[in-house]
Amino acid sequence: MCGIVGYIGSQNAQDFVIDGLEKLEYRGYDSAGIAVNTGKDRFEIVKKVGRLQNLEDALKEHPLKGHSGIGHTRWATHGKPSDVNSHPHFNKDKTLVVVHNGIIENYLELKKDLQAKGYEFISETDTEVVAHLLDSLYEGDLLEAVKKSLKIIKGAYALGMMSISEPDRIIAARKESPLIVGLGKGENFIASDIPAILKYTRDVYLIENNEIVEIKKDSVKIMDTEGNEVSRDVTHVEWDMEAASKGGYEYFMEKEIYEQPKVLMETLNSRVDENKNINFDDAGLTKEYLEGVRSIYIVACGTAYHAGLVGKYIIEKKTRIKVDVEVASEFRYRNPVIDDKTLIIVLSQSGETLDTLEAMKEGKRHGAKIVAITNVVGSSIAREADHVIYTWAGPEIAVASTKAYSTQMMILYLLAIDMAYKFNKITREEYEHDINSLYDLKEHVEKVLEHSENVEKAAAKILDQHSIFYLGRGLDYMIAVEGALKSKEISYIHSEAFASGELKHGTIALIDEGVPVVINVTQSDLFDKSVSNIKEVAARGAYVIAIAKEGNTIVEEVADEVFYIPAVEDEYTGFLSIIIHQLLAYYLSKLKGNDVDKPRNLAKSVTVE
Ligand code: G6P
Repeated sequence: MCGIVGYIGSQNAQDFVIDGLEKLEYRGYDSAGIAVNTGKDRFEIVKKVGRLQNLEDALKEHPLKGHSGIGHTRWATHGKPSDVNSHPHFNKDKTLVVVHNGIIENYLELKKDLQAKGYEFISETDTEVVAHLLDSLYEGDLLEAVKKSLKIIKGAYALGMMSISEPDRIIAARKESPLIVGLGKGENFIASDIPAILKYTRDVYLIENNEIVEIKKDSVKIMDTEGNEVSRDVTHVEWDMEAASKGGYEYFMEKEIYEQPKVLMETLNSRVDENKNINFDDAGLTKEYLEGVRSIYIVACGTAYHAGLVGKYIIEKKTRIKVDVEVASEFRYRNPVIDDKTLIIVLSQSGETLDTLEAMKEGKRHGAKIVAITNVVGSSIAREADHVIYTWAGPEIAVASTKAYSTQMMILYLLAIDMAYKFNKITREEYEHDINSLYDLKEHVEKVLEHSENVEKAAAKILDQHSIFYLGRGLDYMIAVEGALKSKEISYIHSEAFASGELKHGTIALIDEGVPVVINVTQSDLFDKSVSNIKEVAARGAYVIAIAKEGNTIVEEVADEVFYIPAVEDEYTGFLSIIIHQLLAYYLSKLKGNDVDKPRNLAKSVTVE
């Protein structure tokens, strides 16, 4: 999604803004721009469609020298990606500039009003109305004009704004879209995400909804929308840039796949003490509370939704309590049955996905308890939830989610085991056995990662295909769904998952000579049926890549290739088979020459509906 970076201090603003935008590139964008107060009577603005490099090249020709500036990477919503639609937007005489994340919902109405007053629009964006609106309200004090504008604007926004006649300050504002202020010495920053400023400072203010900030070189003032000062504690960011850099790997995705043994254990250790007790006390999930719960929903988007499917499987299996999993964008509008006896578990890596955030608010309005499982401390979802359980994946930069998914699964397994024990569904012995099984995953995942070379070879064989089908039964199916998403996101090959048993009801018509079918066959009770499914597709010419447990060599007789995972108990195989899927998607993308970390049309955190 869009990124915002602003700098005010004594050094060259352009360098900081561009550096910050580079750090936000992973979020996905299609154009970029910058405005700097260069001491002239109007802002100097450079905007370029395409990669940030295009903007950097343009700035080499025409560097902008000044001590304050704002920049933006845009992910198109209103109007195609183009130079003119890129941010910053500005008023006619370029004395006011604006960068914006989010959507101004009443922009058409505002545009009409402003056009009636003689304002001319040059872009197709919703953001341009903010520039002209500010112009119409500006009487020499940008803060006052912003306060008035925010009373008129409807929608979601993080805004960064500057006036040429007030060179000593940047004004920013937030409603729904994330915004932080980085605190430097003799310089300060605004940004939509922490990595943008982490090279310069670890001290930040997390700006809340309906707040305005005045950022000067030596001071930061946070206010409510009326201008009353609000106090805020400084948040010290613990993680460093190394965690957000590639560390010798070619792509972030590769690095993040390989980090999984480590982050799975960190997530596990965050909730299991030295006496092998799982602790979710701070998540409000006491036995008394759970006894009163009538329904449980897991709500999420994308990969997090897929982790939710696995969550349903394991919670229902271990506790026999029914769980519904829903995509957030549907849940929020379908008037689901929610009351104060409903528990909603929301899953979100970024903690900023708007659909998930809004679904969660909808649940809250109806009295549900909200427990958020997220990776980002201080994110909107973390702040709005009743309780937060953090995954310990560390910063996930690649758009295609890998380690966030497996750490979300880890938390859901812990919840399932904890609940099962509280409800006497498992003995203490079984409880400890389950926890030990989770600890053993480190070694097993490391072992699966050793297959990478062979997975690359398998990827090379299916690279030119138009479609890949992913199959599985039970837990294997839920993993297949995520495998297919990984593949389609970054290889751009049409990839679709089906329940193996459902194939014969239609999809098998698509199986033809050479069509790749990736099938998980790790569930013992479904093994024979899965082998039959392999035979069905093989008989129609499919090129079958199977993922099976070590020892099940019979699969070799029916599949073209087999990847073996350690023979763990059935309920834990997902942590291992997903690694093969992630590697396969990674190599498909890399071998096709795609931008693995920044796939086309996608964004890391989707803060629009
Ligand atoms: C976007 C990303 C996906 C991600 C989904 C949910 O679509 O491209 O990779 O799974 O958002 O993100 P969240 O941050 O809420 O987990």
